[in-house]
Amino acid sequence: MNTYKRIVLASRPHGEVTPDNFRLEEQPMPQLQEGQLLVRNHFLSLDPYMRGRMEETKSYAAPQPLNETMIGGTVGEVIESRHPKFAVGDKVQGMFGWSEIGVSDGALLRKLDTSRIPLSAYLGAVGMPGMTAWYGLTQIMKPKAGETIVVSAASGAVGSVVGQLAKERGCRAVGIAGGAEKCRYVVEELGFDACVDYKAGNLQDDLAKATPDGIDAVFENVGGGGFDACLARMNPFGRIALCGLIAGYNGEPMALHNVRAFLTMRLTLQGFIVSEHMDLWPQGLQELGGLVASGKLKFRESVAQGLESAPDAFMGLLKGRNFGKQLVKLV
Ligand SMILES: NC(=O)c1ccc[n+]([C@@H]2O[C@H](COP(=O)([O-])OP(=O)(O)OC[C@H]3O[C@@H](n4cnc5c(N)ncnc54)[C@H](OP(=O)(O)O)[C@@H]3O)[C@@H](O)[C@H]2O)c1
Repeated sequence: MNTYKRIVLASRPHGEVTPDNFRLEEQPMPQLQEGQLLVRNHFLSLDPYMRGRMEETKSYAAPQPLNETMIGGTVGEVIESRHPKFAVGDKVQGMFGWSEIGVSDGALLRKLDTSRIPLSAYLGAVGMPGMTAWYGLTQIMKPKAGETIVVSAASGAVGSVVGQLAKERGCRAVGIAGGAEKCRYVVEELGFDACVDYKAGNLQDDLAKATPDGIDAVFENVGGGGFDACLARMNPFGRIALCGLIAGYNGEPMALHNVRAFLTMRLTLQGFIVSEHMDLWPQGLQELGGLVASGKLKFRESVAQGLESAPDAFMGLLKGRNFGKQLVKLV
């Protein structure tokens, strides 16, 4: 390889993301300095947070700079090393972005054991999305056995883990997802007790049937109508882990009609950003890794082929076209 490909942010979106927000570039292969290593990325993770970074609005993180490699988590293999702690062939996780390769000095690079856990799972159930599920569930929702929890985007990277961890803890797990196929998967494959298809047109009634004892805790990934319907079914002292609001990432308004429930049911809502809780990652990843290695924690992936497919796959993620963790296969 004399050159490699990367995708940069070419322009900022106004409303929906469009293909011309991105630009594919060919770059000369970098020459390693002493203390550096070169990684061939095998998988790129596409995540909803990238939509927020494409904008210049005030947020928890700085915006993605224009004309630079799009931010993103990657897993891959060391193909050249001038670093004492990394050898050619080591599998690593890094933040090399939408790029076929990455150069690192070893900082923030995690060596991966792929003997019992597939490489790609380190971007999903045993990576940032899994940790997001683990953090929101164990630190904010704190569910007790017998309680009912609801999670939106239930078939996705984060939501699928939330429900399975809740089942492990003896809860009734109810998902909300878009479409009959996703709902079937959530119940039949992932083992949730019920899943409400918000696209079927009977959201309130279907949620009421799925939560006969009300809702004790919500893991909110979407916002909008599903969240509003949950508020109306909350039990006293219910907890809400506000993880994401993907229904509004393109600037759509998200009205809530059932705000009164916060007062009448004495609810607690806590927003969180998983990367601010790195101290808990070893604990969470240990549980998640064990569950994946033993086959107890199931996950599904949508895999787009080749770096060129990343913009389209990303636009699909923001419209629910993915089914499970959205990845791009680069090798
Ligand atoms: N706070 C944190 O630290 C943190 C970390 C990671 C992720 N997150 C958030 O967690 C949520 C889930 O992330 P993920 O990586 O697991 O993604 P994902 O669930 O694998 O994929 C996104 C899903 O969101 C749903 N969706 C997309 N557009 C929608 C829309 N306009 N209205 C309603 N639903 C829509 C779709 O599911 P359906 O087809 O079922 O609608 C889609 O499959 C996102 O909101 C993300 O921003 C937060």
